[in-house]
Amino acid sequence: MKQLITLNINGEQHELALSPDTTLLKALRQELGMLGTKRGCDTSACGCCTVHLDGKAVYSCVVYAAAVQDCEITTIEGLGSNGTLDPLQEAFVEAGAVQCGFCTCGMIMSAKQLLDEQDHPDEEQIRQAISGNLCRCTGYTKIVDAIKMASEA
Ligand code: FES
Ligand code: FES
Repeated sequence: MKQLITLNINGEQHELALSPDTTLLKALRQELGMLGTKRGCDTSACGCCTVHLDGKAVYSCVVYAAAVQDCEITTIEGLGSNGTLDPLQEAFVEAGAVQCGFCTCGMIMSAKQLLDEQDHPDEEQIRQAISGNLCRCTGYTKIVDAIKMASEA
């Protein structure tokens, strides 16, 4: 049985008819076509589905959409403004921190929470902030460089 729910995503209200067990990840990708948030493990192990709920990074694959109707949801599509990239997105490109790109959106959302809370994190704090995001390509060094670069921008 579907129910009507309203999600506040990147500052816009979206009304959807969803079954109660629809995850936020599924609502974003399958119902709204917002494909920046990736589906990897679907079991809270890889971090590529990371979005923000009220500014905190969470795995959208283990959150029910119906449970977050009172939250401000931010996805990778909500970063930057007026066609301009967020400094983190620019830094990832500049530092060469993107290879296949599958982890990148989730990685940036985790890093974004860190930089929203702390202006100049050290390397340990950066590595801690992205410790829930797996990357199979880069070896993490360039990702850490990109986050440092963004924090200095
Ligand atoms: S898809 Fe959500 S943590 Fe892997
Ligand atoms: S760039 Fe491929 S998984 Fe991170």
